[in-house]
Amino acid sequence: MIEDYKKHAVVWDWDGYDNTPEFDYWCNYAAQFGKKVLIPMCALGQSGAYIAQKGFDVTAFDITEEMIYEGQKRFGSVKNLSLIVADICDFDFDEKDFDFAFIATQDLHLLPDMESIKKAFVSVASHMKKGACLALELILPSQESYEYPTRTFHPRVPNYTDKKVWKDGRGKYDAATKRHFIEQVVYIEDDKGMESFHYSIILQYYEREKIIAALDHAGFIVKGEFSNRSREPWTPKSREWIIEAIRR
Ligand SMILES: C[S@@+](CC[C@H](N)C(=O)[O-])C[C@H]1O[C@@H](n2cnc3c(N)ncnc32)[C@H](O)[C@@H]1O
Repeated sequence: MIEDYKKHAVVWDWDGYDNTPEFDYWCNYAAQFGKKVLIPMCALGQSGAYIAQKGFDVTAFDITEEMIYEGQKRFGSVKNLSLIVADICDFDFDEKDFDFAFIATQDLHLLPDMESIKKAFVSVASHMKKGACLALELILPSQESYEYPTRTFHPRVPNYTDKKVWKDGRGKYDAATKRHFIEQVVYIEDDKGMESFHYSIILQYYEREKIIAALDHAGFIVKGEFSNRSREPWTPKSREWIIEAIRR
């Protein structure tokens, strides 16, 4: 699975649409807790670069070397941004006084089982100050299986002048295993011709109670549960689940 991110790194920012509202959301969220921000599973570190440019002190990390390498090429000159190769399940940075950490857009679901989730929470907790906040954007498992057929995706705003990138993607969710399988073919066309590669990931969804217990075990108290970024309270009808957990 990580192999697939290696190939993807060079065109991860294929869609150049304006992410400013999302990045501002994270800046405003972080500002309530302090200046030191930790971003696990950051891919190229796009959000981290934006947040650092707004005056925060950011450490962003990813297990895929190629992602961090491409991130360095794009954002290496940004002040107060460290981009590091590390595994969220087992990392040990010198700084242990982060004020705010976030894992956005379902990224945590790439971890394959509760053991990895528990290790990730323990590792993150050990880098955070008392009173610091960990915000998680998760999806709760559906009781129903579903699948969706192949669709072609073009960038909303093309981000490259030297190549064209588009993707075919399809997916399938299995309620028995709570796994969401996503398969894509990524196409890259430039003046030398066209190449493509397959990309497949599995998102493992988890029961709410298990995540809350794992956070508690790692030293976090869940202070808020929301169903969207507008902070509407979470209700069992919502599969979207945003957690605000505070380090004890
Ligand atoms: C969907 S991408 C992240 C996208 C990112 N949120 C963004 O806005 O660009 C998920 C990333 O998680 C990384 N990842 C997967 N397992 C990881 C692990 N155990 N530790 C750290 N990063 C991991 C992958 O390499 C990949 O870059």
